[in-house]
Amino acid sequence: MPAIAVIGAQWGDEGKGKVVDLVAEKADVVVRFSGGDNAGHTVINRFGKFALHLVPCGIFSPNSVSIIGNGVVINPEVLFQEMDMLAAAGIDTKPGHLLISDRAHVIMPYHVILDDLEEGLRGGKAIGTTKKGIGPVFSDKVARLGIRVGDLLDKGFFEQLRTVLDYKNLLLTRVYGVQPLSLIKIYEDYQKHAARLKPYVCESTAVLDEALKAGKTVMLEGAQGTMLDPDFGTYPYNTSSSPIAGGASLGSGIPPRAIARILGVFKAYCTRVGGGPFPTEIPGEMGEFIRERAQEYGATTGRPRRCGWFDAVAARFSQRVNGFTGMAITRFDILDTLESIKVCTTYKLDGKMVTDFPSSITTLERCEPVYEELPGWQTETCGVRKFSNLPEAAQAYVNRLEELVGCPTNLICVGPERSQTIVKKRLF
Ligand code: IMP
Repeated sequence: MPAIAVIGAQWGDEGKGKVVDLVAEKADVVVRFSGGDNAGHTVINRFGKFALHLVPCGIFSPNSVSIIGNGVVINPEVLFQEMDMLAAAGIDTKPGHLLISDRAHVIMPYHVILDDLEEGLRGGKAIGTTKKGIGPVFSDKVARLGIRVGDLLDKGFFEQLRTVLDYKNLLLTRVYGVQPLSLIKIYEDYQKHAARLKPYVCESTAVLDEALKAGKTVMLEGAQGTMLDPDFGTYPYNTSSSPIAGGASLGSGIPPRAIARILGVFKAYCTRVGGGPFPTEIPGEMGEFIRERAQEYGATTGRPRRCGWFDAVAARFSQRVNGFTGMAITRFDILDTLESIKVCTTYKLDGKMVTDFPSSITTLERCEPVYEELPGWQTETCGVRKFSNLPEAAQAYVNRLEELVGCPTNLICVGPERSQTIVKKRLF
């Protein structure tokens, strides 16, 4: 069985936690392929409620293997806290059940400090990062200044750290005027981390190659969302690793042609956290109503999320760059009480209709959404399990989204529990 990628199709926080948890149940191997602890996947299953930041959702299936792939950046302390939390809930986090790529980059103390300082420097143009050190660690990866999990276990680690830290301390003291960091302290702390990480570290591409050759089901677990991609997102208001289907191959070492199914996770409306343009943002009471009803607050930072109507211009672009084979529409029940629901079908720019998502944020900021208004269903859907049992207006909403996005719907989520899911088209 070839691989299936589960991809955030909007600005992140699409409710991927529930979807990846559902799909992971059927997978033999689950790989996280991008991002770091900026992600927060909320999972509710028979073991309880969890906010996972680094550990893949496959961890709940006793017979599957969960891999933190090469495309992920790891803050060891956060990872250990998460492993301890899972172990306390009776979840197996032993080596073998959980594996870590030796190529994954490590978040160092200076990355977290620099994330905060860089945001401060941007002033009113701050990106609104999660301040987890994500931008700085990925910058170091590309600048060839990074420290990888494998490096922590290497006897050359001290020298490597000394070279990098000399440079980082110059930056901290001369550019930002803050205190330098201690080489010995970081070295000793990360030596301890290395000892705990060691049994989990592997050449993950070999594990995945073997699994694919044996016909096992591999799930590639996305983090963040397409509109936060460094290439295709609302640059520079984006994250620093690729959350799209192409990133799933890159961040795991699975060949692109092994990924046969790409499930795009869309919320039934849109949200965005942090700065940057958001054409369908709903101002005032309606936006607040959705935020409160859906409890749209960040799982990682607790920040209130900006709420907006479904943006089909962005969604079509997302479909174009990902090639989704199907959609999962999440948080559908949030719309249950509304009299009517808006969907943005095009943008208007200088009096002209724009159907392509602009690459420039200054252009995007000038775009006005053009809405189509669909009737609401004003009926509770959280108990519905079959598409044909949804109210007619709810079915019409789903069908319209399919037309606009240009792909079929596999799953519709009508509540946070695993069981609160409508399978419109089978995934497996
Ligand atoms: P960073 O990834 O912490 O550098 O943040 C860059 C941008 O991506 C900010 O606007 C964040 O709010 C956003 N972001 C990062 N991770 C997530 C996520 O998991 N969900 C939603 N937004 C995110």
